This record gives sequence, C-alpha cells and structure tokens, in this order.
Amino acid sequence: MSFILTSDNVLTYLQENNLGSFDRESTALKKFSARNFNILVKPADSQPILVKQSAPNINGKQSGELFTEWQLQQLIADHPALEKLTSFLPKVLYADRSNFIVVNYFWADYSDMQDYYDDEDQEYDPEIAQEIGQKLGVVHRSTYNSTWQAPLETSLGSPANPGRKVARRLNRVHSGIFAVTPIDCLRFYKLYQQYPSLAAAVEQLAQNYQACCLVHNDLKLNNILIHHSPKPPATDSRIRLIDWESSRWGDPAVDVGNLINSYLQLWLENLVVSSELSINESLQLAVVPLNSLQPVLFALFDSYRQTFPAIFADQPDFVARALQYAGLALIRRIEVIIDNDRVFDNRGIAMLQVAKQLLCSPTAFTTTIFGRPLD
Ligand SMILES: Nc1ncnc2c1ncn2[C@@H]1O[C@H](COP(=O)(O)OP(=O)(O)O)[C@@H](O)[C@H]1O
Ligand SMILES: [Mg+2]
Repeated sequence: MSFILTSDNVLTYLQENNLGSFDRESTALKKFSARNFNILVKPADSQPILVKQSAPNINGKQSGELFTEWQLQQLIADHPALEKLTSFLPKVLYADRSNFIVVNYFWADYSDMQDYYDDEDQEYDPEIAQEIGQKLGVVHRSTYNSTWQAPLETSLGSPANPGRKVARRLNRVHSGIFAVTPIDCLRFYKLYQQYPSLAAAVEQLAQNYQACCLVHNDLKLNNILIHHSPKPPATDSRIRLIDWESSRWGDPAVDVGNLINSYLQLWLENLVVSSELSINESLQLAVVPLNSLQPVLFALFDSYRQTFPAIFADQPDFVARALQYAGLALIRRIEVIIDNDRVFDNRGIAMLQVAKQLLCSPTAFTTTIFGRPLD
C-alpha cells in the first residue's frame, strides 16, 4: 500500500487545495510516522503545517479515525459552551475524506512530552503535571451532562470499552497462538491465566464502564505538547492535548488511568534487569525511580480532582477505577511489546506485577502510586 502524498507531491497538493503557496527550495519537509504517516511542511516564512495520512490497518483498509479530530472541531464550533477547549485542542485546517488526509496547524514552539522527558536533564516538574490534570478536568467537566451524549455519539461514534476488548483478547487465547508466539512471550499468557483474580478484575472493570462525557481515549506523553517557554505568551496555552482521533463519549476514568500509566512507564520501561536481580530489586533500582514520579502523579491527580470534583462526588469508586485503567493500559503495553518486539522478559514480568496490583488491589496501592494517601 503506498500513500497518496509523498515529499514529491505534497506541496502541489497543498497549493491545489488553497492551503498556501510554497517555495520548493526554502520549504523544509520532514517525514515522521507515529500511528499515521505524517509530513511536516515548514516554509521559510510562513506557518508550518502537519499533513496526516491514515495508515492502512491489518486488513489493508484505511481507517476513518483521522476525521474524528475534524468532527470534534466542528462539534465545538457548533456549541459555544465548548469554545474554551479550542485554546488547547488541535486546529484542523483541512480534511480530505476521499483520500484519508487531514491537514493540521503545527505549533513550532512546542515539543511533545515524550521528547521533553527523553532529554535526560529534564526534571519531573509537578507544575506541568498540574496543568495537564487541569486541562483534562476541563474537557471532562465541560461535557459531563447527559445532554451531550447524543451530539457526541452522533459526531464521534459510540463508546469504546477498553476493558471489554482486553478481556475478549486474553480470555480467548487459542492454540493458534502457540505457533506464532515466541516461547518467552507465551509466559505472559500463562501468567495471566494463572491469576484468575486478574481476569476477574478486568471483567468487572468492563462491566462498570461509565460513559458520561467527552474522553480523549489515547492520552499518553507523545499526545501532549508543552511550550518551549515556561511562560508562553498569553495567546498560547503552555500545555496542549493533541491527537483526538480516538475521542468518544466515554468513561473519564480511562483518560486519567492512561495518563497515570504514561508516567508509570517512565519508571517501568527503564528498569535495570538482569539474571542477578530479583524483580523487586529491579523495581527498586530503576533509572527513573517511582519516588521521583510520585509528586508528579499526585499533582496531576489533585489538580484533576479540584477541576472536576463532581465526578468524585457522583462516583465514589472513581479513584479505584482510574488506577485500574492504569493497570489495564500496562497490560495493553505488554501486549504491544510482545507484538512489536517479540519480548517478554523480567521487565515485562515487573510490568505485569504492577498491573496486577493496580487492577486487583487499587485502593491498597493508592499510596504507593501517589506517595501519600489521598484524603
Ligand atoms: N500541531 C502540532 N504541533 C506540534 N507538534 C505536533 C502537532 N501535531 C502533532 N505533533 C507531533 O507529531 C506527532 C504525531 O502527531 P499525532 O497527531 O499524535 O499523530 P499520530 O496519530 O500519527 O500519532 C506528535 O506525537 C507530536 O510529536
Ligand atoms: Mg499520536
């Protein structure tokens, strides 16, 4: 499958669709692929733009998810009550449905948070996490009312229950998997099945899915932008939440859990593992220790709670479910590592141990995650 747009024809395409006129010599093009195939177009003297093309799925079909971002923007434009979200959501300039292409405004003064933390000198600053928690709280709070359900479901599609998907996949591990999965990785499926309490917790989470507001559904560090300046101009939000392709009417605990999981991955993906060390020793000796992340996790959670207190009043189990969704996201991360890298080593076992604690004993594990009890 080849993509319609390449470095050779992207400028002509943009010009033909009235998205600017570009001088070929002085315009820099950078290809970078995340989930989609993206081309960054950086003219010398005008605004950079990001051209996104959807990649074909496993069956060779292209997904229409790319347009969800565009549809969300239309919905916000039609509802003045949501206008405040535009200051930190993506800005879609053009959507070409027949060719699965979307063109977005690109903020050159921002980096994504994954790149930001990959810079080793970067500190884990609770103030940034506080701002992320606040923005997410505003998104959820602004749409927390059943009157939003119909317009959101019409624009963005019906809710997607992530617990249900994981339960389906892992409860139905069939013999075919033995032929295609390396022996080390089979241990993951074996361990999952050895803990009936884990499968039961996933099933219970799926049953308790509480769709009640707009959710992002794919929150992780590379879908959050941070301004290069700690004090950006008043027109620029320091934090922006991007990549709303999976957004839906859904359960806000999923977004909070996914965010917690993103920070836990900074700890768990950088563990020192060796045959000489027990899993517990590895967890203690991490390059990014959990205790350096606890103040960040607390700031994130606390500002979310202050921004959107109603969800805590209405759903007494919200904290527990958010932590369970963090555990579920860790399980999904293990599955992705197995699919892409074909590895399940001590790092994977450590991740599974933490996922199990989060899913099966979220309340008892709260203090470990936040470094203090939540009152
Ligand atoms: N508007 C933007 N301004 C600055 N950087 C962006 C912008 N949109 C995307 N990026 C960068 O491009 C990456 C991929 O974009 P994203 O919208 O997340 O697409 P994908 O669906 O391919 O993950 C992001 O992780 C971020 O680093
Ligand atoms: Mg992305």
